[in-house]
Amino acid sequence: MKGKKIIIAIDGYSSTGKSSFAKKIAQKLGYIYVDTGAMYRAVTLYCIENNLINDCGLNVDKIIENLKEISIEFVFNNKNEKSETFLNGKNVENKIRNVEVSNHVSAISAISEVRTQMVALQREIGKNKGIVMDGRDIGTVVFPDAEIKIFMTAKPEIRATRRYTELLQKGENVSLREIEKNIRERDYIDAHRDTSPLKKASDAIILDNSDISIDEQMQWFENIFQSVIKKQ
Ligand code: DC
Repeated sequence: MKGKKIIIAIDGYSSTGKSSFAKKIAQKLGYIYVDTGAMYRAVTLYCIENNLINDCGLNVDKIIENLKEISIEFVFNNKNEKSETFLNGKNVENKIRNVEVSNHVSAISAISEVRTQMVALQREIGKNKGIVMDGRDIGTVVFPDAEIKIFMTAKPEIRATRRYTELLQKGENVSLREIEKNIRERDYIDAHRDTSPLKKASDAIILDNSDISIDEQMQWFENIFQSVIKKQ
């Protein structure tokens, strides 16, 4: 698939398979895949490692003060053919997916100064187009003019089971109930925060993948892509 490059924004709830879908699209089109959740996770990991989060909650003033110390990059690993997240020069791809980070990331991503810094970085990465970016506010805030906007959803119990299987495979000791609780809490915080809450852009197309396979999703996408690219 060649021709003019566009921006594909994929937003939606946690564990709806956004990243698997976005990665497949990027691979098929030869586009760059950008996981914006990984950026908020990296900021969260920084806060945990620097004691800016404790039992009493977040030290918001200190977090904001420390934002200038946080540098996030994606580096392509030729061995596993994956783009990996680096925080201040260190590969944190695995660490940012752990349960502790998942439990705090929604609160960190609700801080508007954190979002301003991440959105600026996301716009910089996407300035030459040819990207598939997934997140919560890509079609609404980061790239409101994206040529294709998809909003993904799936039943919470299906999303929890998917995430549970994923974590078990990584050797994490978690319970399905804990995962489902975390997913419901994150949905709530993501959709109710003041700054850039998770919501469907008015011109986004909904994809509910509760009962459809990744191949079926790709077929669905292909039809949309062809009709959009013809108009470019
Ligand atoms: O996609 P994910 O589950 O890895 O995202 C982790 C958290 O980051 C999620 O709870 C909400 C937040 N997030 C966000 O607020 N905005 C984005 N563009 C991406 C993620």
